[in-house]
Amino acid sequence: MADSEKAKPRALELIREIERHNRLYYEKAAPEITDQDFDALLRELREIEEKHPDLASPESPTQKVGGTVLVAFEQVRHLVPMQSLDNTYSEGDLGDFVRRMQKLLPGEAIPLTVEPKVDGVAISLLYENGRLVRAATRGDGTAGDDVTENIRTIRSIPRQLPAGVPTRMEIRGEVYLPKKLFTRINEERDEQGLPAFANPRNTAAGSLKQLDSRLVAKRGLEALFYGFGAFEGQLPPTQSEFIELLRSFGLPGPDKLWQAQTAEEALAAIRELGTIRHDFPYETDGAVLKVDVLAQRDQLGSTAKAPRWAIAYKYEPERARTRLRDITIQVGRTGVLTPVAELEPVFVSGSRVSRATLHNEEEVHRKDIRIGDYVLIEKAGEVIPAVVAVLTGERSGAEEKFFMPRNCPSCGSPAVKRKDEVAWRCENIICPAQKTRRLEFFTQRAALDIESLGGAVADKLIETQLVQDPLDLFALDEKRLSTLNLGSPDEPRIFGAKHAAKVVKAIQKARDLPLHKWILALAIPHVGATTARQLAALHEDLEGLAKSALIAGFLQLQELLVEANNINPDATGPKDPAEREQWLRTLAGISREERIKIHAQLNEKIEASVEKLRKAGAKMKVKTEKKANGNPPLLAVTSELEGEVCKSVVDFFQSEYGRRTLERLQSLNFNPRRESSSETSGGLLSGMTVVLTGSLAKITRRDMENLIRSLGGNIGGAVSKNTTYLVVGAAPGSKLEDAQRLGTKFFSEEEFLAIMQAPTPPPEAIQIPVKPQQGELL
Ligand code: IVH
Repeated sequence: MADSEKAKPRALELIREIERHNRLYYEKAAPEITDQDFDALLRELREIEEKHPDLASPESPTQKVGGTVLVAFEQVRHLVPMQSLDNTYSEGDLGDFVRRMQKLLPGEAIPLTVEPKVDGVAISLLYENGRLVRAATRGDGTAGDDVTENIRTIRSIPRQLPAGVPTRMEIRGEVYLPKKLFTRINEERDEQGLPAFANPRNTAAGSLKQLDSRLVAKRGLEALFYGFGAFEGQLPPTQSEFIELLRSFGLPGPDKLWQAQTAEEALAAIRELGTIRHDFPYETDGAVLKVDVLAQRDQLGSTAKAPRWAIAYKYEPERARTRLRDITIQVGRTGVLTPVAELEPVFVSGSRVSRATLHNEEEVHRKDIRIGDYVLIEKAGEVIPAVVAVLTGERSGAEEKFFMPRNCPSCGSPAVKRKDEVAWRCENIICPAQKTRRLEFFTQRAALDIESLGGAVADKLIETQLVQDPLDLFALDEKRLSTLNLGSPDEPRIFGAKHAAKVVKAIQKARDLPLHKWILALAIPHVGATTARQLAALHEDLEGLAKSALIAGFLQLQELLVEANNINPDATGPKDPAEREQWLRTLAGISREERIKIHAQLNEKIEASVEKLRKAGAKMKVKTEKKANGNPPLLAVTSELEGEVCKSVVDFFQSEYGRRTLERLQSLNFNPRRESSSETSGGLLSGMTVVLTGSLAKITRRDMENLIRSLGGNIGGAVSKNTTYLVVGAAPGSKLEDAQRLGTKFFSEEEFLAIMQAPTPPPEAIQIPVKPQQGELL
């Protein structure tokens, strides 16, 4: 048998595997293996093909840049193809990279730049005469998805550039989900019993693929830029100056860029980047080395897949091996039972890790994690410790499989699993662990901001029965609180009078907080901070929310949509066998003509219902899918409120606990109200974007952000053309330089606070610049 015949089965197997992983990565945004393992598969295939050229073909994954093109979005061709980069994990390869270039440019010095390799989603923006006309993903490198609508929701991407920019340019960069937001989203998902996202990159990719751009806007994506495709205008001579030029257009660049004259200097920069990259707001997986002088790049050119003038150096993922001692159960505020890995402490990516969430039972079984296993720990998104692999080869046989306990570890109630959820829950609303979590949630900053009532204090308040329900705080006796023992009888730690007075003051202040904070504080499942704001915007007060006709209308509409979906003659019906049987039964004996008639009637009802909801202030979008066969169109309705949120709100106020909460609020004479519109829409900062830099001395960053929002302003991440003001604290970062370059108005912290806290100051007196020009992104 010829040598290549022997290698063929392995090559075919590799192609199948690589294609499968490509689909998982690019289409499902749910990779099963690390980039490093993927690169190893690709490398193995490339080696086989090099040895046996008869096995290579233009269709081989080694010849393609990325995933295949998706169909849900319109496809657009890039004016200049989006290439990929050659990758290496070896420092030695960097010397080879420079030597190869020196051979092609003999006798020339080749200055280099080193930039962070952002682990986001590659994007290409097309600006024509300064206007953002199109945004596309990379796709297969030649054509990608038209994601313009979704990209327009990203605050750091200007829709309009300043006057005088080149007539036409494709700007290339990366869309990313900030690491902090990723952590928050996953905490919320765990609490809601939804599967956790694997990492920020997948979450960003998944968000960009949403067909409803309002969902994208909710995610808080950001972007930065480092390159160009087509460029009709004067290019600066170097990459470093190009990045500066982009900044002057209001397009953010990488956090840091190094210049290096030699391979050694580049290596030093790569090592330095390796130590500071964890502090960047986005995830990075490497460094990109580029030739700085653009004219030299042209001379060096490209291979079929990648330019010869750039290379990506990938950092080894920081992983640590440790033993999983036990799996414990954490009870969340809505009763979700989360398995948590108790680990022998190890150091990973700069901190000591002794616990890692395992999210849910399915996840534990999927990864086959057993108690006593040796495991590898990595930080998902460089922040959340996660068990990424089990070292099955190190098993002794004494490891124990994990099963969720049948009862809540705190109160002993039976654990329940709801249909369509991955989580098990304790449904006992008076479970002590839930009470503590709810109390913590109620007092957290984003909700009612009642100082220092988290953690051990919440535990003690519940344990001593001083507080049984968050609303008991409003009857809390200051004296009794001051004597609370946070320690043990042998080693007492008394709360103290000063501390107690402060807490009681904060509790009194909470009475007057606006509706959205109260809605959040109630810990209604599926209602996070953003949803709480949306609900508050649609209702006058809490009682209005509890009896909301709007929410009832939403739910009715959902039912109509399901009915229409099931009755229309083109329906394929539910997939679940039991539901399918039921569906077939209800349709039995109904003729096609009757189905068409009923569907048309339902469509009318849907349209009337949408109209009613719109009148009540809800933003609704209706998509009509016309049928070629003349059947009535299928309607799809999206709104800012999701069905599961509405259902959850109704369930909450109908539950024993919800009813009691409302009654207690009434007896305390509280009815939290929506902020008056003058406070937000007509507020001092209405429609403006404020960016903060440096550390603040007078108030915390969070309080500053809240103040800005309460005056109707938005918080921006980076200074751009759309920034109205920059507030400068101590030791400001590069944002101050950006503001100076762009001519953005900036204030010191004191100046800003003085202006914002002064009662209705006349705008001229404080020189508030005119609002951004029409057409600019706010
Ligand atoms: S330059 C001709 N610079 O990494 C290729 N790419 O693995 C130009 N990436 O496709 C790419 N950070 O999506 C460049 N600072 C950076 C980058 C970067 C992340 C991505 C980009 C590229 C991929 C290659």
